[in-house]
Amino acid sequence: MTFKTLDDISDLHGKTALVRVDFNVPVEDGRITDDTRLKVALPTIEKLQKLGAKVALLAHFDRPKGKVVPEMSLRFVAPALSALLGTTVAFADDCVGADAADVLKLLPAGGVALLENVRFHAGEEKNDPDFAAQLAALGDIYVNDAFSAAHRAHASTEGVAKLLPAYAGESMRRELDALNAALGTPVRPTIGIVGGSKVSTKLDLLKNLVGKLDALAIGGGMANTFLYAQGHEVGGSLCEKDLKDTALEILKEAEVKGCRILLPLDVVVAQEFKAHAPNRIVDLGAELSGDDKIFDAGPKTVAQLKDVIDNSKTLIWNGPLGVFELPPFDTATVEAAKFAAEQTQSGKLIAVAGGGDTVAALNHAGVVQDMTFVSTAGGAFLEWMEGKDLPGVSALG
Ligand code: 3PG
Repeated sequence: MTFKTLDDISDLHGKTALVRVDFNVPVEDGRITDDTRLKVALPTIEKLQKLGAKVALLAHFDRPKGKVVPEMSLRFVAPALSALLGTTVAFADDCVGADAADVLKLLPAGGVALLENVRFHAGEEKNDPDFAAQLAALGDIYVNDAFSAAHRAHASTEGVAKLLPAYAGESMRRELDALNAALGTPVRPTIGIVGGSKVSTKLDLLKNLVGKLDALAIGGGMANTFLYAQGHEVGGSLCEKDLKDTALEILKEAEVKGCRILLPLDVVVAQEFKAHAPNRIVDLGAELSGDDKIFDAGPKTVAQLKDVIDNSKTLIWNGPLGVFELPPFDTATVEAAKFAAEQTQSGKLIAVAGGGDTVAALNHAGVVQDMTFVSTAGGAFLEWMEGKDLPGVSALG
């Protein structure tokens, strides 16, 4: 898909760029605990400032469901962004109407303003054309830099893109380039790692990936469902027994499409769900009691996975291989992550990762910086891995 980027613009002096960012940051006791999403927006903001634009930032925070919920105001983000940018960031109490227009009028060329939570208006999530028109009235161009919100067909991600000249921001462009390198036109052989607890939440994703990848390692709780479907014992482990037939269909489909499926060869079993719980490594096929729960993949599984990664040129990763929050059940995830990071650093592998727990798991392994690209997106990354069109991206085309 082709879309315009900021490189297609030479001058924006005195013009207003309406920029959709994703500032839906994690907060604890009013403090931002991870400002990655603010940092990834900086290149776009700075580029627009250099082009002489007034930068009007549109964002959502949490899910206020079309009502003004004071605790979900974006006001707290303005000083944090200002500190990162080294420039004052003005704040408008509303994202449309006179409040927003007045703040933007006072901005100098190169000035930056953050507008209040777009989800305070019911028209945002309904993708209401009138609300989109009110947003569009504030700007001369529209830039979408929020890949992580691009799976939502909302007024600020989709509707407004059709009303103004629309561009992909720098972070959006980097995300799309990386995703294309991993699944669109990848260097082969390719391997995917999909983990996490439930097959049911990743059915579409698994079905799409087996049609695209050369190998797919399935880990985490979801691997238990596959092992169970193949007739192996899983004891009292998390397992979606009702998905037995679906798991077998996915395995069949993989065979037809020529995708090698890697399931655990051995597992780490414990009886208590807590860090450092007494545990043992058992081979597949060993007897498990009803109290035994599989919490991680074992060393033979990790060795096999490393071997396949070693023979691959592209890796796409979503979801941990075990209960990585509770050591030592983080071992398989950490070892595989470190190995992928080493291969990436030595130029042998393109490694792209994303989605919810994945970033936390890679952070835990200390390798986020060593991967080729780690997406800031949760749901959008998953939908893209499922092969779905993302409305916020399509609207830029
Ligand atoms: C996210 O945090 O994944 C995005 O900001 C989207 O948020 P949403 O799931 O509330 O639409």
